[in-house]
Amino acid sequence: MFNKKDKPIVFIGSDHAGYEAKTALKSFIESLGFAVTDLGAFDANPIDYPDVAREVGEKVLEHAKAGAMGVLICGTGIGMSMAANKLKGVRAALCTDENLAGMARQHNDANVLAVGARTTDLELMKKITEKFLTTPFESEERHVRRVEKMDKIEK
Ligand code: RB5
Repeated sequence: MFNKKDKPIVFIGSDHAGYEAKTALKSFIESLGFAVTDLGAFDANPIDYPDVAREVGEKVLEHAKAGAMGVLICGTGIGMSMAANKLKGVRAALCTDENLAGMARQHNDANVLAVGARTTDLELMKKITEKFLTTPFESEERHVRRVEKMDKIEK
């Protein structure tokens, strides 16, 4: 578990399909003691997920040294994860259960979580998000080496 002073800033975003879940998830993340910045959607009118994925990803990169994390919600989580991963330095993981969320942090040092509001119910989404935000990267040499190799692919 992160102790309070280690808690990363969380940037959250959704499209229209994830709007309702984002509202609930934002309150949940705040209740865990994290500071959350909401980058929209701010209503249920249709918007394009790549715009929000980009905005959240850019904020995570801007605050990377402070250990910022992103949470993205669309209908399936697929579009959000694909779009966010276009940004150099973003490692977005689409997670459908707690185990994946833990592994994405422990082995892959994921800095953005993507979830699907039409595929994952809210209670499970909360568990996935808590696991993601509270699991540290296992900074063993083999994991560091593999994450660095992923970063090299971008260069
Ligand atoms: C919007 O209808 C839907 O396509 C979007 O939320 C997302 O699931 C895309 O990956």
